[in-house]
Amino acid sequence: MDPEPPHVLIFPLPLQGPINSMLKLAELLCLSGDLHVTFLVTDHIRGRLLHHTNIQTYFSRYPGFDLASISDGLPENHPRLGDQLTEMFDALEAVTKPLFREMLVSGEMGSGSRRPPVTCVIADGILGFTIDVAKEIGIPVICLRTISPCFLWIIFCLPKLIEAGEIPFKDNDLDAPIKSVPGMEDFLRRRDLPSFCRSGNLTDRIFKRYLMESKQVSRADGLILNSFEDLEGPLLSHIRTLCPNLYTIGPLHAHLKSRLAIQNLPSSFSSTSFRKEDRSCLEWLDQQPYKSVIYVSFGSLATMTGDQLMEFWHGLVNSGERFLWVIRPDSVVGKNWESYISEELREGSKGRAYIVGWAPQEEVLSHKSVAAFFTHCGWNSILESIYEGVPMICWPYFVDQQVNSRFVGEVWKLGLDMKDTCDRFVIEKMVRDLMEERRDEFERSADHMANLARQSVSEDGVSRRNLDRLIEDVRSLSL
Ligand code: UDX
Repeated sequence: MDPEPPHVLIFPLPLQGPINSMLKLAELLCLSGDLHVTFLVTDHIRGRLLHHTNIQTYFSRYPGFDLASISDGLPENHPRLGDQLTEMFDALEAVTKPLFREMLVSGEMGSGSRRPPVTCVIADGILGFTIDVAKEIGIPVICLRTISPCFLWIIFCLPKLIEAGEIPFKDNDLDAPIKSVPGMEDFLRRRDLPSFCRSGNLTDRIFKRYLMESKQVSRADGLILNSFEDLEGPLLSHIRTLCPNLYTIGPLHAHLKSRLAIQNLPSSFSSTSFRKEDRSCLEWLDQQPYKSVIYVSFGSLATMTGDQLMEFWHGLVNSGERFLWVIRPDSVVGKNWESYISEELREGSKGRAYIVGWAPQEEVLSHKSVAAFFTHCGWNSILESIYEGVPMICWPYFVDQQVNSRFVGEVWKLGLDMKDTCDRFVIEKMVRDLMEERRDEFERSADHMANLARQSVSEDGVSRRNLDRLIEDVRSLSL
């Protein structure tokens, strides 16, 4: 009798960014031919994926693909946003963990189709319980971290930072240098550390969760990172000291694009946004001059106050540049954004502004009219921008975004870091700098990095070779 084929269970963190990248990994694994891939999401996310994306096409294109779901333990009307994410982590630990164990033990995925037993789990590294459960049952487990490697390395160094007395901060000077993160001694400041370091409370639940992470992730059989060697080589060698079996296979979205192109398959169906995309912005972009628009979007989770919204509006309008702005309906705390930026105000912007609730971001960033990206520095957004060679202005919100923006501004020289300010004059000046005064300088670095990103996912690129190695390892783990 033929042996059962390898069956990989992929379990992403139930948020837009991580789902985007892990679905891309799922597709890359399916494209390798003989793997069964079950994509496990929370019931809440399943509903959104089925409703808003064309995930259905995965079933017809990839016979080995299946979607399964599990409860996240939260009431349906929970916002699953910003500050309330801690509640989500607690519920995942309390409610989802035992359900996940039951699922693996019984082999019952609840999706209705008959599947071979799971031979390998690939889970988001922040979901530490997946490692506990897989280890307990004896299934190999590989972690994927969808956040940036520079953030991950800081997380791994948290014990060192505490030991050296660098956190909690002793005073309010956010510009004080940080010296206990090897490889970042020359440029890291307190304000670039993850936002939760500012609370000063080392018993904070979020802080404790990250503190445990280095111990957890190094117990896994490997670590996949959505990045590429040319972007973060020196840091990756530090990470390898804790996680020697590292697979850098990014940028995942570009990797998938290039793989689909080689197999002559269209890529347009892989829209994984679980919000409804407003594609009218592409038509608006079609009517704008070449490289004349700044695209503004703060991802899927960041929120802002009404005052901050108005600073952005005035700063952008006063810069005199054209802009396409994604304002999600839940972006502004407490009120609808339209109650601040009235029809009248918008009319006053003389057609230079276009606002949507959610955009097809990858297509927007690759559009010929887009010159720059005002971003919150979520890791997917950064990789998408790097791949398209689009310089950035950074307004980080939380988690890895503070250090990501430092890397964009100071290390990679791909743009300007506006962290910790939200002032119309600063915004106006930065937009002008990026779009006019310093445009050539940033475009040169962005072009250079885009070429390196493209090479990494080309036929003989390092990310491509690492993906092949991952697929081989997944196969051999199932023997
Ligand atoms: C979360 C964390 O906040 C972030 O720090 C971490 O790096 C990843 O997860 P999120 O807000 O989801 O970030 O941002 P990001 O990682 O940039 O992912 C957002 C995704 O949504 C991107 O793939 C982007 O293309 C997509 N998007 C965003 C759209 O498709 N349309 C939009 O209008 C905005």
